[in-house]
Order: sequence, then C-alpha cells, then structure tokens
Amino acid sequence: MKIEPITGSEAEAFHRMGSQAFHKYNEFVDLLVGAGIADGQTVVDLCCGSGELEIILSSRFPSLKLVGIDLSEDMVRIAREYAAEQGKALEFRHGDAQLLDGMEDLLEKADLVVSRHAFHRLTQLSAAFATMLRLVKPGGAILNCSFLNVGDFDEPGFRTWVQFLNQRPWDSEMQLVWALAHHHAPRLQDYREALAQAASETPVSEQRIWVDDQGYGVPTVKCFARRAAA
Ligand SMILES: C[S@@+](CC[C@H](N)C(=O)[O-])C[C@H]1O[C@@H](n2cnc3c(N)ncnc32)[C@H](O)[C@@H]1O
Repeated sequence: MKIEPITGSEAEAFHRMGSQAFHKYNEFVDLLVGAGIADGQTVVDLCCGSGELEIILSSRFPSLKLVGIDLSEDMVRIAREYAAEQGKALEFRHGDAQLLDGMEDLLEKADLVVSRHAFHRLTQLSAAFATMLRLVKPGGAILNCSFLNVGDFDEPGFRTWVQFLNQRPWDSEMQLVWALAHHHAPRLQDYREALAQAASETPVSEQRIWVDDQGYGVPTVKCFARRAAA
C-alpha cells in the first residue's frame, strides 16, 4: 500500500501537532549532534514536512544553510509561511525524495542529509537512500529515523506501542493512522537491504542501523552512513 503525501487539512493538523511537540524533535537533534552537525554547514532535510526541524535547527545553529524538501505542496507552503512567521530565512522546495529532479544543484553539497519520520511512507526505500548519498559531500553523513514494521518489535517494544496507541483515546482516527503506518512500515531487513543497495552505487566508509525509542516513544529505526571520502 502506498501512503500518500500529507496534504490539505491533514497537513494543517500535522503542523499544529508538530509545532507543539518540539521536545520530540530535540531528541532527533541530539542524534544530529552525534552525527557531527555544526554551525556553518549545509544540511538537507528530505521529507521535511511543515518545517519544525528547520526552525529548531536554525535557532540552535544560526549559520546553518538549511534546505527542506517535501513532496506535498501544502507542506512546503505551510513550512514557508511558518518560517516567515518566525522571522527565519529558510529554503523549502517541492520534490520527491526518491528522485533527484529539482535537486541537481544540491548534488554533493551537503555536510549532512537527514530525514525524520518519513521513509516508512516511501515505495522505493533504496532510491531515497541513494538520493541522500548523492546529495551529501564525500566524507559527509546521512541520518534517517523512521518507523519500523510492527512485526519487528520485540515484546517490550510491542507493549510500549500498545500503550502509545491507548494514550490517544481522544483521537481514534490518529490511532488508526499510527497503527497503519507501523503495519505498513518496512521490516528492519528492508532498511538494511535498501541502504546496502544505495551504498553499492555511492560507497560509504561507515554505516550503522539500530532500533530504539528515542524521538518518538516507540521503537524506530535509525540509519546512519558516512559517504566515503573522495
Ligand atoms: C510524518 S511527516 C514527517 C515530516 C517531518 N520530517 C517531521 O519530522 O516533522 C512525513 C512527510 O513525508 C512527506 N513525503 C511523503 N512521501 C514523500 C516523498 N516521496 N518525497 C518527499 N516527501 C515525501 C509527506 O508529505 C510528509 O510531509
């Protein structure tokens, strides 16, 4: 099943939810610090949504050059409006993370290419990792955090997930959306194979895939790789 980009009122709802949950993004920012993010670098965020991560990163690292890319025109519009409201000069583009169209000028320009909570929505996971590795400079790093298929949760993870869903009885529609997202998410092995496939085309010097509940509360997959130096 293909999960469509987030549009219309769903995009507005996502933005309201995200802009009130900065603490969740901060845990992802900690991962980026571990991956070597530093002021003055160029960072590309694939599937950036309504730009919450960009607002947080630009406050913490004022000289970052940030480019957010999303398939949903509504998300890009909301991200631009949000950045303008916050007085931030940030760049947002419309684009598909699985293709390089419209991103040619960014090839090998980024120190870090990131993506948060989106790759489980894609139909071509290895193409998205390939995009990340082609946008990053030789020696630069990529970091993705996205959902894990519920079939790969261990028992404590499964219990946490059920509690997570039960804590949202106020919104049964969102419970269903979250449950479906995990039901359709890639298996751990799919992430491994997709990153390996991308790395066979753009060599990496380091890679690590792990599962923990940081930044979300239930298990998510983190995929890190460093592009081999030229
Ligand atoms: C759950 S949101 C996460 C947004 C953001 N990364 C965050 O953490 O707040 C997933 C985003 O992925 C976008 N998306 C889905 N498929 C995409 C694709 N092929 N290329 C780029 N963005 C895509 C959706 O439009 C949506 O904005």
